[in-house]
Amino acid sequence: MDRFLATHRHTNTSASPFKLGIIYENGSWIERLLSELERRAIPFEAIDVTQHSYSLEPDPSTTLYFNRVSPSSHLRGHEAAVPLARTWMQTLESHGVRVINGSTSFQLETSKVGQLLLLRRLGVRTPRSWVFNDANQVHKLGEFPFPAILKPDTGGSGAGVRMVHSRDELKEIAAHEPELFGPDHLLVLQEFIPNDAIVRTEFVDADLVYTTRVVATNTFNLCPADGCHRDPVDSKLARPSVEFIPYPDVPADAVAQAREVVRAAGLDVGGVEYIETADGDRVFFDINATSVYRDDVCRVLDVDGFSMLVDFLEREFAKENAKRRGSGLLLGV
Ligand SMILES: Nc1ncnc2c1ncn2[C@@H]1O[C@H](COP(=O)(O)OP(=O)(O)O)[C@@H](O)[C@H]1O
Ligand SMILES: [Mg+2]
Repeated sequence: MDRFLATHRHTNTSASPFKLGIIYENGSWIERLLSELERRAIPFEAIDVTQHSYSLEPDPSTTLYFNRVSPSSHLRGHEAAVPLARTWMQTLESHGVRVINGSTSFQLETSKVGQLLLLRRLGVRTPRSWVFNDANQVHKLGEFPFPAILKPDTGGSGAGVRMVHSRDELKEIAAHEPELFGPDHLLVLQEFIPNDAIVRTEFVDADLVYTTRVVATNTFNLCPADGCHRDPVDSKLARPSVEFIPYPDVPADAVAQAREVVRAAGLDVGGVEYIETADGDRVFFDINATSVYRDDVCRVLDVDGFSMLVDFLEREFAKENAKRRGSGLLLGV
């Protein structure tokens, strides 16, 4: 465990009997949040679900939870985190406990197929996709345009995303790189949508934080955090790099469309990725819950994404505490 978390797992310097639970699996991604909660004197408990257990009766003093577990947990050796987080959040919600980015959005975040189905249900254009769990299925693939993109159903940070140039190459990869199938052993072959950049729009509680155009060179890992490791698509090409370009002129109807997606996905905090096609259309392909806001983009666009997030948590925490007091569920308050 890192030093910050070792000493800052809990705070409750106030008289409040309630606390906010932060569900996480990667400590370094929540340090800034915990420092800010501490600064604002919001009582919290940070709960590491890489090794955790729970009772079917929730802890009455935690009135609100915030889920920060990433679908890429398995890449850090934390494959045990996702099933526990999923079932625990379902348990909490079954008791009426509010979980920000709870089980519905988590279910979607951990399945690209689930995301595509939701997008299609909303009438949004998505890339043509084919799903399989074994190399011996490749002969069943009908007409499919190559080059295509291959990605695991449960991914994140471009993990396992590959460009595939032919049916033979697809068969070869699927047969000899079983680890590519990911934790739920499912691969999605997807129509490649040509682009110079993808667009990513971020929301907190349905409010737009910002939109960026993301230009990636020789990588599929478009993670916005500085220092994020990026594997090259092709080791013979230039070093992987990613540029985040503020996009203040994003069309209003694109923002409305993206907002509709995050709402339908049950995402309180999160973003949507799409590609603007040459014929002026939009193709949506990714829904993300573990947003990181870039300070450089925030400065240019004069927004403070991080404060928007913590303000939202503070508001929801006050609301849930008031409800709990009203219901008298916690004796003595
Ligand atoms: N259908 C597609 N056409 C073109 N590029 C794509 C397509 N799908 C993914 N990509 C590229 O790969 C990156 C990672 O894919 P994505 O589906 O967002 O997975 P992850 O969940 O790992 O971020 C995208 O940001 C984009 O640059
Ligand atoms: Mg993505």
